[in-house]
Amino acid sequence: MERDNKSSEFLHIGNKLLSWYGKNARDLPFRQTKDPYKIWICEIVFQQTRISQGLNHYNNFIKRFPDVKTLADAEENEVLLYWKGLGYYSRAINIHKASQQIMNDYQGVFPADYEEILKLKGVGKYTAAAVSSICFGGRMPAVDGNFYRVLSRIFADDFDISNSKAFSYFSQLAAMVMPDNVGDFNQAMMDLGSEICKPKNPLCSECPVNDDCLAFSMQKISEYPVKTKKVKTEDLALKYYFVHRNGQFLIRQRKDDFIWKKLFEFPPVISVELEPFIRNVKTINHKLTHKNLIIEISSVEVHSEAVWNSFIAENQYLITDFEAFHDKSFPKPLENYIQNSLKD
Ligand code: ADE
Repeated sequence: MERDNKSSEFLHIGNKLLSWYGKNARDLPFRQTKDPYKIWICEIVFQQTRISQGLNHYNNFIKRFPDVKTLADAEENEVLLYWKGLGYYSRAINIHKASQQIMNDYQGVFPADYEEILKLKGVGKYTAAAVSSICFGGRMPAVDGNFYRVLSRIFADDFDISNSKAFSYFSQLAAMVMPDNVGDFNQAMMDLGSEICKPKNPLCSECPVNDDCLAFSMQKISEYPVKTKKVKTEDLALKYYFVHRNGQFLIRQRKDDFIWKKLFEFPPVISVELEPFIRNVKTINHKLTHKNLIIEISSVEVHSEAVWNSFIAENQYLITDFEAFHDKSFPKPLENYIQNSLKD
């Protein structure tokens, strides 16, 4: 994004952030490389997951899939397995597909240009800006929630961040403070947003730009950013049967579904024949970003081998057991349910 002359009056803010970053940058494994593959993976992992929560996953992922080709050659289920615990599994599916795109469309060489990076599956403007600026000297701000928060506070700007134009509005604000080293500036904003200019209880006295922050000078930090619309969440009821016998239980893999793409789940229906074996029914509430799940799981212990065999024969379920289930990725509430059943 180009700066105009008028905006250079705010450049010192970006420069202060850069020098603060020079002294205070967090020591993170992906900061020791400019390998676009690794930066891409880290941006996808850490856009929706806190650093402390995702660091082991990131390290294990890179160890197993150190480059684009290794990832592209892997089975999708193995990629999902390395994502286990991070949630938002469509990220893993997209990363895998994008690695194949890089092999097929870019001869295995990670594209350097913002517009080309944007063509990769699962890559949005934030990720394309982050990778192109950190690895290739690109000049786009990596605008995300951190940018909204930091910039709305500095300028005491009440532009509604739930407005569909918020991204382009805050991109323009970012361009006004953005210095030449955009890669470091973007990462400085990420660090400032997560360590200092936090959503709650920000550490304003330690902030390198508190002198420039209008919201701070008016003691109105908590009023920014302004967000009017709440994310709409709707209830969704799911019903499952935990059909088990001698430590084994039945599962199937979900399709490219609207939630929990390609993860494993329990049978959602059983035959009337199995009804008498239902032991107990548990209801679990689980929140996804836009959905409030109400999951009812009925435990069905099958004693008769003949009934078990005929149920399996009639349905295309997979049989697994408590040891083997670790090799598959389940939605968090189902994984917890299995773990708890282990204790019983
Ligand atoms: N979160 C996502 N990407 C990051 C990065 N490059 N540095 C710090 N935090 C991040």
